[in-house]
Amino acid sequence: MEKKVFVTHELPGEVIHQLSGLCDVNVWLGPGLLPASGLREELSDCDGVVCLLTDRIDRELVEALPGLRFVSSMSVGVDHIDVQALTARGIPLGHTPGVLVETTADTVFALLLAAARRVSEADRFVRQGEWRRENRWSPDFFTGKDVGGATLGLVGLGEIGQAVARRAQAFGMRVIAWNRTPKAVPGVRLQSLESVLAESDFLSVHLALAPETQGLLNTSRIAAMKPGAVLINTARGGIVDEQALAEALSSGRLYAAGIDVFAEEPVPVDNPLLSLPNVVLTPHIGSATARTRARMADIAAANAIAALRGEPMPHCANPEVYAR
Ligand code: DGY
Repeated sequence: MEKKVFVTHELPGEVIHQLSGLCDVNVWLGPGLLPASGLREELSDCDGVVCLLTDRIDRELVEALPGLRFVSSMSVGVDHIDVQALTARGIPLGHTPGVLVETTADTVFALLLAAARRVSEADRFVRQGEWRRENRWSPDFFTGKDVGGATLGLVGLGEIGQAVARRAQAFGMRVIAWNRTPKAVPGVRLQSLESVLAESDFLSVHLALAPETQGLLNTSRIAAMKPGAVLINTARGGIVDEQALAEALSSGRLYAAGIDVFAEEPVPVDNPLLSLPNVVLTPHIGSATARTRARMADIAAANAIAALRGEPMPHCANPEVYAR
């Protein structure tokens, strides 16, 4: 009998078109994202799924799908998936490392510069006619914070953190970092998390969301950040306590923030960060260039094709399933 694969969204790229030559493919065409209940129903008779980071594949779902043979996510992060539940069943999980590194590092710098130089605030000021209404321009008009010569602290020094470090060096920044396992990266000084928090004028988060990183930047760590610092988060919302961050920003203890990821996405309108003028907000677009998204989709499709052929996935998040 022909294998069945469900794709939870139309995907860009070329490789996805090869899937239909290997199996029966069903693609969710919307409108919008597939609801969780729909995912369970659609997957009931499927051998595999190609999904997005918006699809929650938890233990309950995995256990309800005895025929599931592989999962391929068009994302590098796999915190939306119960990896242990898949591994226990020997189900490989594909993901998309590598291709989004430079694009995400660009997003970090876009947010960092925008937060430092108050670009969103200034844009709103011009767009809403305030500039003309107030007929104002003065030496302290929209003054911001210098990036050149400042200290950038990286919380996590994986590939994206290193790509951000390279950009920071070109801006004349001093770069320090904390990483769970020591690693030597040219031009980056490894320090304790506490000293990175205390010394960084700009702090950027580059960790995967896992039980040990959930809430890592909690109230006391946010309080330990250098006064007047700027926090950038393009990793995962759950790593930062949003309420504590909002309080530090509204009290003026922190200067600004650039936030691309939220504990709950899409972000609820009553999230306290949304009402603060000194926060630059974007809707989880760290890897959002057409070229990078097509490359991610190609890798996700290639992972699915390998699984259908009974071969190891080229990019597997739980390669231990192949050691059995
Ligand atoms: C990922 O792939 O995990 C990223 O968050 C997408 O930008």
